[in-house]
Amino acid sequence: MFSKLITVAATGTIALLAQASEAQVTATGTMGTTNPPAATIGTAINQTSYARLLSLNNIHDFCLFAPPKPGVTIGDSEAFEVAYCVQPRNNARVIPDGVLKAVHFVKTPLYVQVQGWGDFTKLNVVAGDDGGELGPHGMTGEGNPVGGNVTSNVTGADVPYEEWMSFISYTQFCLRICTADNSTLSAADECRHTLDVMGCEFVMPGDYTEDTFTSCDGDAAYPPGVYPQSDGSTSTFSQLWIGTMTGTDGATSTTQWGNTVTPSAPYSTPATSNCQTFTSVGNGIASLALTNIAAPSTDVAQPSASSPQPTQPLQSVGGNTCKRTTR
Ligand SMILES: *[C@@H]1O[C@H](CO)[C@@H](O)[C@H](O)[C@H]1NC(C)=O
Ligand SMILES: *[C@@H]1O[C@H](CO)[C@@H](O)[C@H](O)[C@H]1NC(C)=O
Ligand SMILES: *[C@@H]1O[C@H](CO)[C@@H](O)[C@H](O)[C@H]1NC(C)=O
Ligand SMILES: *[C@@H]1O[C@H](CO)[C@@H](O)[C@H](O)[C@H]1NC(C)=O
Repeated sequence: MFSKLITVAATGTIALLAQASEAQVTATGTMGTTNPPAATIGTAINQTSYARLLSLNNIHDFCLFAPPKPGVTIGDSEAFEVAYCVQPRNNARVIPDGVLKAVHFVKTPLYVQVQGWGDFTKLNVVAGDDGGELGPHGMTGEGNPVGGNVTSNVTGADVPYEEWMSFISYTQFCLRICTADNSTLSAADECRHTLDVMGCEFVMPGDYTEDTFTSCDGDAAYPPGVYPQSDGSTSTFSQLWIGTMTGTDGATSTTQWGNTVTPSAPYSTPATSNCQTFTSVGNGIASLALTNIAAPSTDVAQPSASSPQPTQPLQSVGGNTCKRTTR
C-alpha cells in the first residue's frame, strides 16, 4: 500500500505544470450515492445525514467536510466524512451558528476559496486533531471522502467541479475549488493536493485573521509549492515522504521521496480587492445554535500554534491504509 502511495505522489508531481491543456475543470461523473443529484438550497435539516455534496458559493453559503461521528480523527475518517453546510442545502448537515469564528472568502480567476477558524469539535473533529487534507483523488482514486462532490455557482449557475482540496483541523479550515484554468495552469495545478502536511496557510495562502469575516475578489495564487524563478522557470517543492515498504521477500525497508528542505512560506499571498466585511456568518437557526455564542468558550484554542504548520510533523494521519510518517 505504501509503495503505491509514493508512486501516485511522484507521478502527480512530474505531471505538474505540463497538463494544462488536458486537465478537466468541470466534473462530468454522477454524484456520490448519498448525494442529491444536484446542489439544492433549502433542503430539510438532517443532522445525521451522510450527504457528501459540498457547495462553495459565497461567504454565507458554503460547506465543509468533517467526520460523521465523534472520536475518529480526520486521518482515520477521510474516506467517509460528510458535508456540513452553513445553509440548509444539499440534504447535508447544517453548521450550527457559533461554530465559525472567522471566515474569509475570496473569488479569483482560477478558483474560489474560503478559509478561517472555528470550533470544529462541534463538527465531530477530535480536540487537538491537527487534521488533514481531503480531495477528489484519494488512495483509491474515488476521492476522499468516497462519493464526495463539490459545486460552486460563482459563474452564475451551479457547476460541479473536478478539482478541489479541503483541510480541516479542530480549529482551522480551508477549502479551494478550482473553477477555471489558463494557458499555463490547469485546475489540477491550482488544486494540487500532494502537500497534506504543510497546512492551510502554506497550501492556500490568504487572509487568516481571527475573529473577522470578509469576502473579497483576489488574484490567483501560484500553485501550492510552486516558486517562480527569475529566469521564467519554476521550482516545485515536493513534500518529504518517508515510509516503510515491504518487498516480495517480506523484508521491510525505509524509503524516502521528496525534498528534505521544507520551505517556510508560500511564494506569495495574492492581492485582494472589493472586500466586504461582515459581523458573522451563519443561518439564524436558533434551535441549532451553540449556547455559547454570546460568551465563546475559552477552551477553544485559536492561535495558529495549534493549527497545521509548515514544519510541524504530521501526527494524526494514521491508522488507515495510507499510513505514513514525515519529518
Ligand atoms: C437523514 O440522513 C440519514 C442518513 O443519510 C437517513 O438515513 C435519514 O433517513 C435522513 N432523515 C431524514 C428525515 O431525511
Ligand atoms: C462525484 O464523486 C465521484 C467519486 O466519488 C466521481 O466518480 C464523480 O465523477 C463525481 N461526480 C461529480 C459530478 O462531481
Ligand atoms: C448562488 O446560490 C445562492 C444560494 O442559492 C444565491 O443566493 C446566489 O445568488 C447564487 N449566486 C450566483 C452568482 O448565482
Ligand atoms: C495564469 O494564472 C497565474 C496565476 O494567477 C498567472 O500567474 C499567470 O500569468 C496566468 N497565465 C496567463 C497566461 O494568464
